[in-house]
Amino acid sequence: MENVRPDLNWVINQRSNPDLSLCKELFSPETARLARRFHRQIPGFQMSPLLALPNLAQMFGVGGIWVKDEAVRLQLNSFKVLGGSYAVYKYIKSRLNLENEEISYAEMTSPEIRQKLGRITFATATDGNHGRGIAWAAQKLGHDCVVYVHAETSKPRIDAIRSYGATVKIIEGNYDNAVRQISIDADKNGWVVISDTSWEGYTQIPVWIMQGYTSMMSEIQEQFAGQGITRPTHIFVQAGVGALAASVIGYYHALFGSDAPKCIVVEPDKADCLYRSILAGDGEPHTVSGNLDTIMAGLACGEPSPVAWKILKETACCFITCPDYIAAKGMRIYATPLHGDPFVVSGESGAVTLGALIQTLRENGLEELRDFLKLNQDSQILFINTEGNTDPLHFRRIIWEGSNPVPKEYWTDS
Ligand SMILES: Cc1ncc(COP(=O)(O)O)c(C=O)c1O
Repeated sequence: MENVRPDLNWVINQRSNPDLSLCKELFSPETARLARRFHRQIPGFQMSPLLALPNLAQMFGVGGIWVKDEAVRLQLNSFKVLGGSYAVYKYIKSRLNLENEEISYAEMTSPEIRQKLGRITFATATDGNHGRGIAWAAQKLGHDCVVYVHAETSKPRIDAIRSYGATVKIIEGNYDNAVRQISIDADKNGWVVISDTSWEGYTQIPVWIMQGYTSMMSEIQEQFAGQGITRPTHIFVQAGVGALAASVIGYYHALFGSDAPKCIVVEPDKADCLYRSILAGDGEPHTVSGNLDTIMAGLACGEPSPVAWKILKETACCFITCPDYIAAKGMRIYATPLHGDPFVVSGESGAVTLGALIQTLRENGLEELRDFLKLNQDSQILFINTEGNTDPLHFRRIIWEGSNPVPKEYWTDS
């Protein structure tokens, strides 16, 4: 069922009897426990907060709005480090033939293990946040790092990667071109690619990255339990290649089966490869090409990760695409909280899901989507603020100067 609108597009996933076997295989509670046990050992590691926005929830007639705030994760301004660091850890264990043993963080950084491993060069393509996480992990563990970014990547994002000692190279084209190039150059140079997207013959490391993200969900469930909430009823999760969304949604389906929350995948309308894939209805991932021109830099990906797609096509209940101004609106709502709600620093890719919810609740013509989602006083809605102000200049342009305004015809005056 499709309802193409001038501003927010959506499609319901018609899958009625989802196959949850892959979710259960990849995202068991035990996997999340192991990932979390690894992350906890990192010096300075802390649980990120799960913030409640009760006044915003009341204003929009829903039971609760909850925001997992990844902007403060290890002072790296994004959730991405959870996946990259875990994949590097799993790779090192496999290189040492210690797959089934525990090695502590202290052992991994010990002179003996470093000597055994030699100096490794980890390599990745990024739109910013993932590269920063890998550069950080490589530096912490005493290895080298090469990061390829595409031509549109902003200087603050490049500088942030360089600040962890990585070599950064700018590649013509978009994120998907940078991914292809790093894989070619890594083969030539003997680098180890730690990519968050998968391709034929390259799935193990992307799976480890997705498993690393489950630390976050394990924290969320603990935080919800402290509030007397068993699980959220709805999760709005943003997607680039879909690895984060597959991990979040896969985790909840592994844990709750058919009682899992309703999971909504949100993408920029200029990089809507997952939306187009579900719309195509043939079960295959589909690609969007071109310069993927969106302010949501972290979501500017034209090719779904095949392994993530396999999970999403079974489990996501709905796919939504948004113009840039909805992300900008989400950023402004977070940054100007209602009295009593906390202030959240959220970047373009972090805030689009909140913008999408508000638009969904209020926009004319979205009645069918609202009926399907059943958002009401009993709904406990989860968002992940996946990044803070990773591009501070652009952040101020939106919050202070009001760039990317909502066109008047789409105002949802409350
Ligand atoms: C801030 C932010 N949010 C969300 C995502 C989406 O993650 P994925 O590409 O796994 O869908 C990214 C990816 O880089 C990101 O940087």
